[in-house]
Amino acid sequence: MKGFCKCIFILRKPFTMKILYTFFVLGISQFIFAQSQSVPKVFLKDVLTFPLGASVNPRLLDENVTYRERTGSEFSSVTAENHMKMMNVHPGADRFDFVLGDEIVAFAKNRKQRIHGHTLVWHNQVPQWMKDFQGDQVAWENMLKNHIQTVVAHYKGKVAGWDVVNEAFLDDGSLRPTIWSDHIPDYLAKSFLWAYEADPNAILFYNDYGQDGKPKKMQAILNLVQDFKNRNIPINGLGLQMHVNIGSKNEAILEVINQSVATGLSVHFSELDVAVNPKNNPDFVYDDVAKDEQLNKFLLLFNAFKSIPKGQQYGITFWNVGDKDSWLRGYFKRPKENPLLFDDAYARKAAYNVLLQTLK
Ligand code: XIL
Repeated sequence: MKGFCKCIFILRKPFTMKILYTFFVLGISQFIFAQSQSVPKVFLKDVLTFPLGASVNPRLLDENVTYRERTGSEFSSVTAENHMKMMNVHPGADRFDFVLGDEIVAFAKNRKQRIHGHTLVWHNQVPQWMKDFQGDQVAWENMLKNHIQTVVAHYKGKVAGWDVVNEAFLDDGSLRPTIWSDHIPDYLAKSFLWAYEADPNAILFYNDYGQDGKPKKMQAILNLVQDFKNRNIPINGLGLQMHVNIGSKNEAILEVINQSVATGLSVHFSELDVAVNPKNNPDFVYDDVAKDEQLNKFLLLFNAFKSIPKGQQYGITFWNVGDKDSWLRGYFKRPKENPLLFDDAYARKAAYNVLLQTLK
């Protein structure tokens, strides 16, 4: 009782009241400021006429609240960065593991986001048992067909489209020698047919990187599309990964976009990042000049995508969400790289707001 009285006595002192009042007002304004920061009202994804995506990592979705919030609110499409690839989804000859892929699907479905499937056939991230596989052509075909059809059937009705084959051509336009080309003649066409059989409604993509400035590689892709059309092999889209950098030539980028659009297929910028320090200079500073150059590339790409006929716009997907999650830092060990639209703390970069104003 004594303490209580003392407290009332202190509160009645005008000076103490003033201090408390000041703290109260400061607290409220901090709260309002924090709210206005964390719940932005206008989203880039809402002003675009096409889906805006990011590749995602289920560990970060689990562990990092801000990552989860940004991924859920800023994007209308998601791609599994790694967890639908052969190595992760088919770790043993008789064992499929869909746990983490399913987590991504559940996350996206809860937020009404589209899910893009990546990737059914690739030469990287192949499980050891596939590399060691022994058998004749029929056995190899059955193995790959079983892989494709089990994965596609599992995600049927959930995944809108698939990168059926990834990175099958070398820069000189020749077919990349892989375990698939070694053992299965015409493996690209067969893969697309098997995927189609398992889900005729999925949008089937051929996906590759670095077409800009590599006319032979691009020509090989265009020849593939023409050959598929001639033979009635189902193909619906071309994925241009768009791992570009601030020095990439604009004309070369625009040319491969135009060539892709001219096929009449859907177009996906499937793995966009704009590297600012491609030579991994240890003294690099992400200054205003670099930021402006990066913004100009984003603008070029988004404006080019906007001018694609609506029916062919599958979307633009960034290769992860915040700079610190980029594979350029992790996989390529380039610590001074800032290639995405959100910074290390998942704050929108200035470029985000310029895109928003320009594209709305
Ligand atoms: C990368 C992932 O980002 C990395 O985490 C992984 O270690 C290697 O693969 N082209 C593709 C993607 O099609 O699947 C690759 O993703 C990046 C290049």
